[in-house]
Amino acid sequence: MVRTGNEGQPVRVAVLGAGNVGGALVRLLLDDPEGIAERSGVRLELLAVAVSDPARERPGIPTALVTGDAKALVTDPGVDVVVELIGGIDPARELIEAALAAGKPVVTGNKALLAAHGAALAAAAAEAGVDLLYEAAVAGAIPIIRPLRESLAGEKVRRVMGIVNGTTNYILTTMAEEGLPYDEVLAEAQRLGLAEKDPTADVDGHDAAAKAAILAGLAFRCDVVDGDVYREGIARVTPLDIAFADRLGYVVKLLAVAERAGGEELSVRVHPAMVPKTHPLASVRGSFNAVFIEGDSAGELMLYGRGAGGVPTASAVLGDLIDAAHNLLAGSAAPAPARARARLQPIDEIRSAYYLSIEVADRPGVLAAVATVFGDHGVSIRSMEQQGLGDEARLVFLTHLAREGDVRATLAGLEALPAVDLVGGVLRVVGDEDGAGR
Ligand SMILES: NC(=O)c1ccc[n+]([C@@H]2O[C@H](COP(=O)([O-])OP(=O)(O)OC[C@H]3O[C@@H](n4cnc5c(N)ncnc54)[C@H](OP(=O)(O)O)[C@@H]3O)[C@@H](O)[C@H]2O)c1
Repeated sequence: MVRTGNEGQPVRVAVLGAGNVGGALVRLLLDDPEGIAERSGVRLELLAVAVSDPARERPGIPTALVTGDAKALVTDPGVDVVVELIGGIDPARELIEAALAAGKPVVTGNKALLAAHGAALAAAAAEAGVDLLYEAAVAGAIPIIRPLRESLAGEKVRRVMGIVNGTTNYILTTMAEEGLPYDEVLAEAQRLGLAEKDPTADVDGHDAAAKAAILAGLAFRCDVVDGDVYREGIARVTPLDIAFADRLGYVVKLLAVAERAGGEELSVRVHPAMVPKTHPLASVRGSFNAVFIEGDSAGELMLYGRGAGGVPTASAVLGDLIDAAHNLLAGSAAPAPARARARLQPIDEIRSAYYLSIEVADRPGVLAAVATVFGDHGVSIRSMEQQGLGDEARLVFLTHLAREGDVRATLAGLEALPAVDLVGGVLRVVGDEDGAGR
């Protein structure tokens, strides 16, 4: 659908979903349409808002705008642009497909849908010659999708690393600053409404994995789905690991990492990691998000801000909506390069530095036996610290860069040693590869 020649005309918008984000977007559109037009150069007219329960009172949203029939709205000839803020796979997917097929640009914040079916939806948008924009799908208010897609279109990106889940960053920050265990901080976050009653999507890394897949797809112009992403959550991180990390000059963060792994392969993964205190990502506290990009020409960039929340996220949606409206009026669409399926590196093949903590019997010869296991698997120790625990000792190792499969074999070898009572924390060290021997 092209609206060339209609530059003075309003662009008519249908919003599907009026929850946290949709509701905030509707209020932004209704509260200050003149201001938006003045700042953006485009007039947006809210035509209708689809919800699942149209009978419910919604403060700030006139009932005349509310409908329960999203399906009819996405093909309504009176609608120019569709904003999908329902979430989940169905019916969001079929509504977006129907809107695109009807030649309407679509703006969405639906990370779950994009991480599972992003390539097919992008192809449908390209086929229809209209926009599919999704700035809000990764890191809420932070502009990261458009910079990756447009500003860095010619950049050879080496790595994208993000703190893209506010709940887990809040939990890890509080554990570090108050020395509290994971369970206690999670329960408090749930009481404060900062974590869901069922926190699995956040704490097990599913939400971050969906965002990692979207970021990898854009940064490396390929198709990565959430099921491809290697994933570990934060439930096994202990205050002890965090305290050791602190002593060694690191903080513990849940990172989404997408990087070139040599050859044609990419490594895309989500896991807790030790990040040097001097790294910009280390300063991202509480529920804030940030994405750190390393490119061959651009060098290092970091984008930081609110990763969630109705109003901040609605701001990102509004930006996309304005873009879609401009493009519609100009008869163009945002660039959407074709994407090949990514070749992903198995987790055993990644190279990283590692932190390992073990508890051993405190007697002569144990250290030599432990060092032999490392040596047998070709894992080189960068530093070791010993702490007495009565008849036992805790040994904390930092390794040089090592292959993950070799580190796993080392752990199995350590577990088999009679003098080793416990193999405790294991964390990848990210962000000081120079120091670790890359
Ligand atoms: N919340 C955030 O901070 C955030 C941040 C980034 C991205 N996002 C993404 O933004 C999207 C929306 O999130 P949210 O937090 O705003 O969700 P939400 O609060 O659960 O709102 C969902 C809305 O969709 C409506 N809905 C459900 N089924 C529908 C159907 N079949 N037809 C029409 N409307 C339907 C609901 O109607 P009722 O009101 O009648 O129940 C509700 O208004 C999700 O994709 C999410 O991942 C959210």
